[in-house]
Amino acid sequence: MQLKNQRVLLTGASGGIGRELAFELAQHGATVLLSGRKTLVLDNIANAIINLGGQARILPCDLSAAGGPQRLIEQATRDGATLDIVISCAGISHFGMTEDLGSEQLNQLLRTNVVAPMQLAQAVLPVFKAQGRGLIVNVGSIFGSIGFPCFSAYSASKFALRGFSEALRRELQGSGVDVLYVAPRYTRTAINEGAVSRMADAVAMKQDEPQRVAKAIADAIRGNARERYLGWPERFFVKLNALFPRLVDKGLREQGRRMRPFALSGS
Ligand SMILES: NC(=O)c1ccc[n+]([C@@H]2O[C@H](COP(=O)([O-])OP(=O)(O)OC[C@H]3O[C@@H](n4cnc5c(N)ncnc54)[C@H](OP(=O)(O)O)[C@@H]3O)[C@@H](O)[C@H]2O)c1
Repeated sequence: MQLKNQRVLLTGASGGIGRELAFELAQHGATVLLSGRKTLVLDNIANAIINLGGQARILPCDLSAAGGPQRLIEQATRDGATLDIVISCAGISHFGMTEDLGSEQLNQLLRTNVVAPMQLAQAVLPVFKAQGRGLIVNVGSIFGSIGFPCFSAYSASKFALRGFSEALRRELQGSGVDVLYVAPRYTRTAINEGAVSRMADAVAMKQDEPQRVAKAIADAIRGNARERYLGWPERFFVKLNALFPRLVDKGLREQGRRMRPFALSGS
């Protein structure tokens, strides 16, 4: 799908990957509707895009609030405005031992990473179906295919998002509406600040810059991909885990042991 003249709603636009993706989309000629909670940050990004000759406006929203995703789609399509692509990039993580995750934290994580993208899709589907076209892009994670120690809730949320994306794509076959699931590996952004980034350095986790991830997501959209797993050897491990999970258990035993002190240290 070409991005020129497409109207794209992007959640998580104030974050590390989302910000770079906003510039990437605008550079390819898309009009970008930037969503997040930090209005000032969104304003700065929109102004920077406009100063570069692109088109952007902001639609602040708390996706975890009741009715938030539905209101966001209403605003994005107000007065019959077309919407071509919805990208769910907002997300939060939890690094720590499973028993230390508070119930409100767990609810917030599932609301943001799973319920919000599902509700955004539900709200936009009538619009896309009436148009006879549209693309839903869900930003998952390599941890959505490989359950990772000390990231159990985050892994579970991204497994759920991957399952939803796959099922919805199959449900929509022949409708003109499509679904793309993109799974980045570790990327240097605020989501990994503190103990996670110290752990990643200590275990020599491969790391991407957000610009590279943003370009890969835009390329996947432009190339009509339906699933994209970023990074080598992570792509290979996704397949290995699906076929031979016990081998990956073994491989992660030592890494899990080295990760645990960081997970116990808090942020
Ligand atoms: N960085 C990585 O290592 C990595 C790897 C794989 C996948 N991912 C995925 O990539 C996506 C982007 O992550 P990132 O690395 O760019 O993280 P980030 O820099 O922390 O950005 C997170 C974004 O999510 C938004 N957000 C969080 N809670 C929200 C809520 N309740 N309502 C609305 N927006 C909310 C934040 O907006 P405000 O701050 O304005 O609220 C921010 O724009 C996430 O889905 C993440 O799971 C990241």
